[in-house]
Amino acid sequence: MVDTKSSFRPPSLVGTTLEEHILLGMRGAPGATGDFASLLNALSLAVRIINARVRAAGLAGVFGYTGETNVHGEQVQKLDEYANEVLCTVIERSGRCAVIASEELAEARMCNPDGNYMVAFDPLDGSSNIDVNVSIGTIFSIFRAPEGVVSTTSLLRPGRELIAAGYAVYGSSTTIVLSTGQGVHEFTLDPSAGEFFLSRPNLRCPTRGKTYSINEGNFASWSKGIQRWSQFVKSEDKALGLPMGHRYVGSLVADAHRTLLKGGIFAYPADRKNAEGKLRLLYEAQPMAFLMEQAGGLATDGVRDILDIVPTDPHAKVPLILGSHDDVKVYKEFAAGSPT
Ligand code: AHG
Ligand code: MN
Ligand code: MN
Repeated sequence: MVDTKSSFRPPSLVGTTLEEHILLGMRGAPGATGDFASLLNALSLAVRIINARVRAAGLAGVFGYTGETNVHGEQVQKLDEYANEVLCTVIERSGRCAVIASEELAEARMCNPDGNYMVAFDPLDGSSNIDVNVSIGTIFSIFRAPEGVVSTTSLLRPGRELIAAGYAVYGSSTTIVLSTGQGVHEFTLDPSAGEFFLSRPNLRCPTRGKTYSINEGNFASWSKGIQRWSQFVKSEDKALGLPMGHRYVGSLVADAHRTLLKGGIFAYPADRKNAEGKLRLLYEAQPMAFLMEQAGGLATDGVRDILDIVPTDPHAKVPLILGSHDDVKVYKEFAAGSPT
């Protein structure tokens, strides 16, 4: 029989759900209408639907390509298209969103012109890893819609104006990492309950880490400064904690998640094949940069803070270097041609 008289409250048998966490956050937001919470819950639903399909990808006949190519000339994998359809449908039906932009939409798309928010997303990140059962994910970011007329160019804003960003990792477990500007929090899906529960609140990126994450296969086409940085992090220097270990999954969400949790640095610099870099500013770099800075880390294109850069179009590319404060600072010194 539980003793209901004492002030002691037994530890709850039920953790904080994502929805409760969002509503708790609203208590500090005077005039909150619940629209924001409703949009975040719509995104959580989309992630759960995508997750169900990812978990059965091999069986549900969604491996392989659709035969189409997207605006980047990349072959669209069935799961990319499916994830895009789910996110577009769920976000539009929420009624809270005025404009959406997606890696899989050639142009940004108007939804509800009276919607208070604008959402950019990478529906399925790490597509090259779908068929080999390596962690993939979904990335999203949320702007407040401007007063007055909203158009498809309204979301070409600097990441400093973001009000929320997050990503899902479909890995050994399915997690959502989210920030609404009050720190970074991780939620893990309990498949038996079909609900996300708070698993690690207030994530902080260590000020330096032990691993660097980069596609070394591009070494020959990096700038001299980046080649020197890559040799520096592999050199032997106990006092500087070198060499760093190398980890590279090839899914931004997986490499960024590990870097956020354990520290270190992830880099996708410009190279001869991708003179502007490979990753997209609006729906990959900006959300990851928002989260990194909220967790005490840094995110740069090698010179500028990612959050200060304004996209010229929904698919504008940018070099992306993110992670521990000290490790990113060292990278920037090499990128500027002044190695330590
Ligand atoms: P997407 O699958 O959304 O196109 O993103 C793939 C990106 C990113 O996830 C990853 O960091 C990078 O591509 C890997 O690129 P390389 O295979 O060239 O290393
Ligand atoms: Mn991606
Ligand atoms: Mn993608």
